[in-house]
Amino acid sequence: MQEKIKKYINDIKKTEVLTIDDAQKIKKHFLAKNGILNDLFLEFKRLSNDEKKQTGKLLNTLKKITEEKIEKIEKGDDLEKQKNELDVTMPPNYEALGAEHPLTRVKNQIIEIFNKVGFSLSDGPEIEDDWHNFSALNMPQDHPARDMQDTFFIELNPDILLRTHTSSVQIRYMENNTPPIRIISPGRVYRKEDISARAHCLFHQIEGLYIDQGVSFSDLKKMIMYFVKSLFGKEVKVRFRPSFFPFTEPSAEVDIYWGLQSETDRRITKGTGWLEIMGCGMIDPNVLDNVKIDSNRFSGFALGLGVERIAMLLHQVDDLRLFFENDLRFLKQFK
Ligand code: DAH
Repeated sequence: MQEKIKKYINDIKKTEVLTIDDAQKIKKHFLAKNGILNDLFLEFKRLSNDEKKQTGKLLNTLKKITEEKIEKIEKGDDLEKQKNELDVTMPPNYEALGAEHPLTRVKNQIIEIFNKVGFSLSDGPEIEDDWHNFSALNMPQDHPARDMQDTFFIELNPDILLRTHTSSVQIRYMENNTPPIRIISPGRVYRKEDISARAHCLFHQIEGLYIDQGVSFSDLKKMIMYFVKSLFGKEVKVRFRPSFFPFTEPSAEVDIYWGLQSETDRRITKGTGWLEIMGCGMIDPNVLDNVKIDSNRFSGFALGLGVERIAMLLHQVDDLRLFFENDLRFLKQFK
């Protein structure tokens, strides 16, 4: 009997099982109720205990090899079926879809408000030269006002720096265009400042510039009131404060009321309850002269908005650093 089983083992090893049809034939021949294995097992039962040991092993080998051959084909067939059922054109599940960064969203809101009244977009480089960032803005070398903005210089060349404000774009635009001018310029700016809840070494500004004949401070004030009411609502608490900037005369700063209840309110607002969102003023005639615009014919106003400060006010964010940390627990709240 052992010889007979060995022969079957050899046979089945040699048999090529390639298709599902082959597999079915083998199954019927060997494994079915009246198949070879069944007969062999009946025969096996009649053997003496001694013979059973060896023969049993052989029988099991035959059964295993046969089953493995069939299984291989049947599984492959399953895979084929799955492949055919797979719709490769079906759109995937975008579960972890991101959202616009809150700063981007606030920036776009601001741009839209200005667009509505005829301001168009303009931009300039983040790596600037001394002229556009300082000198042309009425801050010649050694002017004390340069200390208001701690600057990152490019080490090898003190003439090249990371712009400290978007006011540099004013100069670039005025050098290449003639009035009337009505632009806004959003962008990143850099300052060598200690990072805290209300200051960062990198932040975002939006510059506004309006030049025409007969532009007055009341035009500036009207523009700003239109802007803050569009953004924060009609009930917004806003105040103008006289200030100083070398490139505007007169100059002002605009504050929005934040609140003064908690310790955090005190820290964020330096104990005043108000948060500054922009500097502004009437363009100094010296600046117009620097870019060859006739300051006897034309006048204008300029303003520079802090995007982070505005986003803090709009979304009650009490620490500016949150905007830069890419913490999903924070970002997800703006979906
Ligand atoms: N550039 C100023 C700053 O970053 C902000 C500013 C003030 C911009 C007055 C202006 C302006 O255009 O007129 O501190």
